[in-house]
Amino acid sequence: MITNWYRRHIISLEDFTPAEYEIILQTALSFQEVLSRRTKKVPALQGTVIANLFFEPSTRTRSSFELAAKRLSADILNFSPSTSSLTKGETILDTAKTYVAMGANLFVIRHAQAGVPKTIALEMDRLNSGVGVLNAGDGQHEHPSQALLDLFTICMLLDSDRPRLQLLQGKKIAIVGDILHSRVARSNIWSLTTAGADVHLAGPPTLVPKFFADLVPTGVTVHWSLEEALLNADFIMTLRIQRERMTHHLLPSLREYHRYYGITRDRLVLAQPKVRVLHPGPVNRGVEISSDLMDDPEFSLISQQVTSGVAVRMALLYLMGGIN
Ligand code: CP
Repeated sequence: MITNWYRRHIISLEDFTPAEYEIILQTALSFQEVLSRRTKKVPALQGTVIANLFFEPSTRTRSSFELAAKRLSADILNFSPSTSSLTKGETILDTAKTYVAMGANLFVIRHAQAGVPKTIALEMDRLNSGVGVLNAGDGQHEHPSQALLDLFTICMLLDSDRPRLQLLQGKKIAIVGDILHSRVARSNIWSLTTAGADVHLAGPPTLVPKFFADLVPTGVTVHWSLEEALLNADFIMTLRIQRERMTHHLLPSLREYHRYYGITRDRLVLAQPKVRVLHPGPVNRGVEISSDLMDDPEFSLISQQVTSGVAVRMALLYLMGGIN
């Protein structure tokens, strides 16, 4: 596989070009084919050391990156903060430098604080380490690999032989829920608007504040009425309601949220007949989406998102691993 990939770090999708998205979609398609074989492993990253530095809990992203690294024959180091020397006062930068000294080539980093992956990437560059950093979700900033797997999932549904950005041109995509605190929404806004999709954000005023309408890029419309956002939508992306927001009185109750903003079978009648629903997970069943709809393969793409995640993350590690 020969590509024109020049990006050492993936921290944000804000400055991603259409050409970069196309390379990721094509590379993920190749790896999807590898994953359909009896032997699902290729030697592409043999000898490469990948460190999974997850300072915040994760099921999907962490396991998906680990499996992707293994399918590429890389060596993977998993890090757990609670059993690491962070508990003895070591700083995050010193932890990173320790892994570099062991020969790590790529870092996959999740942290509850926005900016940590970027800080480590800058330090890696300052040290001329050659190490690439991939943001696996940082605070309320971005979650690039989630948005890229969402993009791949949608494009594959529209044309599984030739997933490409153009397929999203003019498609109406409603993103519903806690937009204000969502790193998934931020990354998706960048990718979907670059693809030319018609993006509509909807949620309660406390989670989609008025000032937000002035900050969003061209191609994005903000609603407080769920019905307006769902009208003729081709895809609905629901976001996790973060229960901790309840303590800040941003929501009266989860039941109240579901009543006004929950995605249910009844509400899908407003959307296109072939509408599909996505959710990055983890899901609060019966809050963001009704439990029966979540499990309905006619409408729900949630399992495909998880499956796509491995091929997309293989693509990202492969592309970044090729940078000297
Ligand atoms: N979507 C997502 O980031 O899930 P995890 O927190 O389980 O990784």
